[in-house]
Amino acid sequence: MNYHRLYFVNWQRQVTVEEQNGRLVVVKRNKPSKEFHEFVIAYTYSLISMLLAHPSRPSGLDEIMRNEGSEMRSVLHTMGIPTPELISIDETTLVEEYKAGGDLYAALSKGGAAHLARLAGQLTAKLHGAGYAFIDNKAQNFLVDDDSVVRTDLGFTQKNSSSYARSMDLGSFLASVMDLDSYASIADSFYDGYREESGRRFTMLSIIIRNLLSIGFSSNSALTLRNMLIDTRAMLDV
Ligand SMILES: Nc1ncnc2c1ncn2[C@@H]1O[C@H](COP(=O)(O)OP(=O)(O)OP(=O)(O)O)[C@@H](O)[C@H]1O
Ligand SMILES: [Mg+2]
Repeated sequence: MNYHRLYFVNWQRQVTVEEQNGRLVVVKRNKPSKEFHEFVIAYTYSLISMLLAHPSRPSGLDEIMRNEGSEMRSVLHTMGIPTPELISIDETTLVEEYKAGGDLYAALSKGGAAHLARLAGQLTAKLHGAGYAFIDNKAQNFLVDDDSVVRTDLGFTQKNSSSYARSMDLGSFLASVMDLDSYASIADSFYDGYREESGRRFTMLSIIIRNLLSIGFSSNSALTLRNMLIDTRAMLDV
């Protein structure tokens, strides 16, 4: 195996791009601290759900790894949600096809890709229509593939059609792009795609979750605050 370059290091997993059999692949290795970090995510998820009076159970550790496997990917494919091709998976390491377009957050931060947010909204609606939720639905978890988007990072996906689970998807997507200058048009496109596909508006709860999560996600608190003050009533089911 050829260790080409360190592509992306984050707090949960080490994600690298490598060459295997003459082809570029993405390798995701659990860091030794993964269990602890997953505990933090699981704990936060439960805590927010209790604060908001929607008690909910997050995915357990076994489930998280199973969710990344081929079974979940084929469930998603039948819903019309594409994912990168899975090359191999074991308890600690996942290898999948490399998508050269990078993640949706990066594309949106360069501007001019708001139509891709619409596609993310459509995919999220398809998932909800089938009674599932991603829970961790950050724009960083969508990858750009030419002019379409595919979904990666499936660990927290669950069969759950509660309003809280759906609101978590909507809120976590919006929170992840709140620090971008073009937030308003990205949010509108995401909403349009979601509404078109599901016939549903956003819940008030999704905006509350957005505001809670954006504090942790934001890399620019002035922009996040500005965007938090944009009127959301047109999107809401009230
Ligand atoms: N198949 C892929 N092709 C290209 N880039 C990828 C691919 N998979 C992941 N990435 C890049 O690596 C980043 C992290 O991947 P991923 O979300 O799967 O890891 P993670 O450890 O679960 O991250 P986090 O906990 O922050 O969501 C993505 O946001 C994306 O930029
Ligand atoms: Mg991710």
